[in-house]
Amino acid sequence: MNSNTTMYQGWPEVDESKKLLIEQVRAFAEDKIKPRAAQLDATGEFPKDIIQALAEMGILGMMVPENYGGSATDAISYAMVLEEIAAACASTAVIVSVNNSLVCAPLTYFGNDSQKTKYLTPLAQGKKLGCFALSEPGHGSDPAGLECSATKVPGGYKIRGTKNWITNGKEADICLVFANLDKSQGYKGISCFIVDTKSPGYQVSKLEDKLGITASSTAQLFFDDVFVPEECLLGKPGDGLKIALNTLDGGRIGIAAQALGIARSAFESSKRFATEREQFGAPIAKLQAIQWFIADMATRLQGARLLTWAAARAKDLGLKYTKEAAMAKLAASEAAMWITTKAIQVHGGYGYTKEYSVERNFRDAKITEIYEGTSEIQRVVIAAQEFAALNKS
Ligand code: CAA
Repeated sequence: MNSNTTMYQGWPEVDESKKLLIEQVRAFAEDKIKPRAAQLDATGEFPKDIIQALAEMGILGMMVPENYGGSATDAISYAMVLEEIAAACASTAVIVSVNNSLVCAPLTYFGNDSQKTKYLTPLAQGKKLGCFALSEPGHGSDPAGLECSATKVPGGYKIRGTKNWITNGKEADICLVFANLDKSQGYKGISCFIVDTKSPGYQVSKLEDKLGITASSTAQLFFDDVFVPEECLLGKPGDGLKIALNTLDGGRIGIAAQALGIARSAFESSKRFATEREQFGAPIAKLQAIQWFIADMATRLQGARLLTWAAARAKDLGLKYTKEAAMAKLAASEAAMWITTKAIQVHGGYGYTKEYSVERNFRDAKITEIYEGTSEIQRVVIAAQEFAALNKS
């Protein structure tokens, strides 16, 4: 029994059907994704065929009801699947995560029937890809002050403004855009619009050249008076910030799971290397310094994994899980950064080279402490929830 199997011990939600799904995704990730990861990282090529294959496995709309093209799985399965994909390739994992968590989820929760039929179904089936355009050059951690504007025009709205750090921005067919319809209302004027990226005026104005997750595009988008028909308003006018923050609660479980996969890859590589590499006449695994690294990696990884599953379980039970998701993302992303740093240390000079995947893991880990809310924002969210609970008691 390997450590990937024992990690489910004592977790009653992980029944045979979940194990089957995870085994299937793990086998695909090991055989088809992992061998390509270094090359994807080097070229920055979008893994179109891999995404297509994952779509055929039902992975692009995991929590979407079956009548809208999804797999109707739960959030725990989703987290486990993303961990498996991220353990092979972090870029692939974030492409999948954004489509599921940041695009399919808000359409599922806030869309009307015709929006679900027209937009959610092809996204869940993986026939189309989605992106989530909230952040702006001057508004990352503070989306309440976003400047992108929506103006009412006959038959719909015109959207104007710039969006930054948009995962899948280059390849997306459908973009959820947050724009302010009534700036006099402050954040209560923010609304969410479903935008077809083929609309005139939708421009990919810049592609970021990044430290990690290079095979996933991170775009700056410019909306040059993009016309959006009336029926593409998601939710009610002014609901936008709530939709965004509610969506990010779910997104943070996805990023936590991505961080777990990156960390697991570095951890497994460290164990293998430690048993093979000899110094002072014996494998370095015999040295207590290395054993302590391995023990701390294992503990931090499993601690973060249990927090991630706890957040997913709270979501599945229909409970408010804002704090749990923030804790999961905070713990998993910081564990990933720590584990990948120590993994390079275990590998010594080899770990600093591209010959070993820990070098890529280290670069990929960093973004998990930043996107979908920095670690500092997660602490703000956790503290706010703790004080709110105190005031209620
Ligand atoms: N769910 C639903 N609604 C929520 C909410 C949640 N989790 N949290 C707050 N709200 C609501 C509040 O109830 C409030 O509405 P009312 O006034 O009607 O009650 C409103 O939103 C504003 O709440 P706050 O005053 O608490 O909000 P704030 O402006 O102080 O911000 C914050 C709080 C935690 C800092 C929040 O802005 C935040 O999470 N910031 C980080 C944003 C982020 O993660 N950005 C990443 C973008 S996506 C990305 O990374 C790109 C990608 O492609 C991967």
